[in-house]
Amino acid sequence: MSTTTIQDFISALPKAELHLHIEGTFEPELMFEIAKRNKKEIKYKSIEEVKAAYDFNNLQDFLNIYYQGAGVLIEEQDFYDMTWAYLEKVHSQNVIHTEIFYDPQTHTDRGIKFSTVVQGISGALKDAEAKWGMSSKLIMCFLRHLDEEAAMSTLAEALDHKDLIAAVGLDSSEEGHPPSKFQKVFELARQEGFLTVAHAGEEGPAEYVWEALNLLQVSRVDHGNRSLEDEKLVQELIDRQMPLTVCPLSNLKLKVVSDLKQHPLREMLEKGLLATINSDDPAYFGGYLNENYLAISEALSLSKKEITQLAKNSFTASFLDSETKQLMINKIEQYSQENS
Ligand code: ADE
Ligand code: ZN
Repeated sequence: MSTTTIQDFISALPKAELHLHIEGTFEPELMFEIAKRNKKEIKYKSIEEVKAAYDFNNLQDFLNIYYQGAGVLIEEQDFYDMTWAYLEKVHSQNVIHTEIFYDPQTHTDRGIKFSTVVQGISGALKDAEAKWGMSSKLIMCFLRHLDEEAAMSTLAEALDHKDLIAAVGLDSSEEGHPPSKFQKVFELARQEGFLTVAHAGEEGPAEYVWEALNLLQVSRVDHGNRSLEDEKLVQELIDRQMPLTVCPLSNLKLKVVSDLKQHPLREMLEKGLLATINSDDPAYFGGYLNENYLAISEALSLSKKEITQLAKNSFTASFLDSETKQLMINKIEQYSQENS
């Protein structure tokens, strides 16, 4: 019997992250540094004042502050530096594969070139692969509070950078903006060879999860918490082994759950859903991947076996090829046997 604590077990466990907004990794310290070199005003006087503003009642409260923060990013180097800071952080947490969202429209609507953003982020991803062998995929999200025509223009711009973008996603304000609003642009994206994912069932109803599955033909559902309100949907997700990218600290901070002890993760696992653990917007929600694993493990008293299953799920649900997935899963199994 190993004496490895749950915390140490999680720290050294090889993991993949599948739900991470790169603009949500922008720490206030780096935000101030980049604002200064770009001569951009920040409405807060100090890092402490910024952090004090991170007290949200819902998704929209958070998004208002998150879009403001991203407004200081101008040069390719800024996007590189923000991405590199995240990669260094999660490399230290034994994340060996990461699939990153970014929101091009948040930047192109401010006059930043599409290529500036994608090249800055991709440059850091490439360097992490060269330096540590950390693999990654990039997922371009459409902002669902904007219209489908704007998403179409964004997709057209992405076609010149197809080699850098694996999938398209859907994020931002969920309620009132159902997946069906983006059916045509997702169809075009699939025709162009992009995989698809979508945020659904975070604040929005189970019906939005059905739409993500049937109309957008997603490979994963981001969040998906409210799927549990619909028994037929749960069965469908199990039958398809459709991954849910669950984000515990995000759910707590955005009041999707009132207490982590009430979090539906255990119920998801017991029902046979392919749930994974992720950090969403770690600079805003108080923790990167390991902090999410630890917080939910403590709240729900997860065993090492259950934590191991979550890490395996993260590779099963990834966009890696099946051979690499199996290699990673074997690695996790071996680690778990040596440390349980
Ligand atoms: N953009 C960044 N984080 C998000 C979240 N949790 N839900 C929807 N859009 C987002
Ligand atoms: Zn998200």
